Amino acid sequence: MCYILNMNRIDKIVKKINDRAEIGIVLGSGFGNALPEITNVHEIEYHNLGIKYNKVEGHTRKFVFGDFNGKRVLIFNRLHFYESGNLDNLRLLYKIICKLGVKTLLMSTAAGAVNKNLNPADLVLVTDHINLTGQNPLIGNNPVKFLDLKNLYDKELLNIAEKIGESKGIKLNRGIHCQLTGPTYETPSEIKMLRLLGVDTVSMSPVLDAIEAYSLGIKILLIAGVTNKACDIENDSINHKEVLENAGAMSKNLKTLFEEIMLKL
Ligand code: HPA
Repeated sequence: MCYILNMNRIDKIVKKINDRAEIGIVLGSGFGNALPEITNVHEIEYHNLGIKYNKVEGHTRKFVFGDFNGKRVLIFNRLHFYESGNLDNLRLLYKIICKLGVKTLLMSTAAGAVNKNLNPADLVLVTDHINLTGQNPLIGNNPVKFLDLKNLYDKELLNIAEKIGESKGIKLNRGIHCQLTGPTYETPSEIKMLRLLGVDTVSMSPVLDAIEAYSLGIKILLIAGVTNKACDIENDSINHKEVLENAGAMSKNLKTLFEEIMLKL
């Protein structure tokens, strides 16, 4: 079931793409090396589909289709709220992938560790979120949709991921993720507040993405990869280069996880 705002534009894009996929994968900043081993690859850049976006270092903007274990997979890049100040592109992206046939979405995000027990290179299975963006992609839907988010992060996928982590010796934590809009990192006082709220990881995505995709009936797994300690008084300040470097170091485990999960779907 796809809820479509602008059927015409989406249908045209889907027709131009001329491919399908049942599994979607979103790689966060710097996780480019986590790309699963796919064959029969077909790539199409967003700008060739008339989608306009801003440049962000570490992010390419394209759909990459490929075969993995007899299934068609689509690996694609997010379009963030902080790029434009509106959610038009975000909504468009998930409506496209829904129309392309995606039923399961494996998402990753580079994240700061708010929980003091987490360290760079730790992976966190997100079980719930706190949305502090002040935004919601479902605002403006006609008819209005009141959506229960209790099962947004799919329990079956969480269990599959956890079992794979155990069998492959990849340590996985469970935690609560928070999205703020960015593009500034948090202040030390904001991090203090997030700790009081029980947040484990923070980033500038993908809670809004998850809400939009879930509202379209897509099952979601979200893995936050810790790239840095959150920016509080005790820790050094963060920079995007460090985030990208640490994400690169985590990519091998993320790739194994994604591939093994796909074998189970
Ligand atoms: N804060 C917000 N977004 C991020 C961070 C962070 O510490 N690390 C990676 N993305």
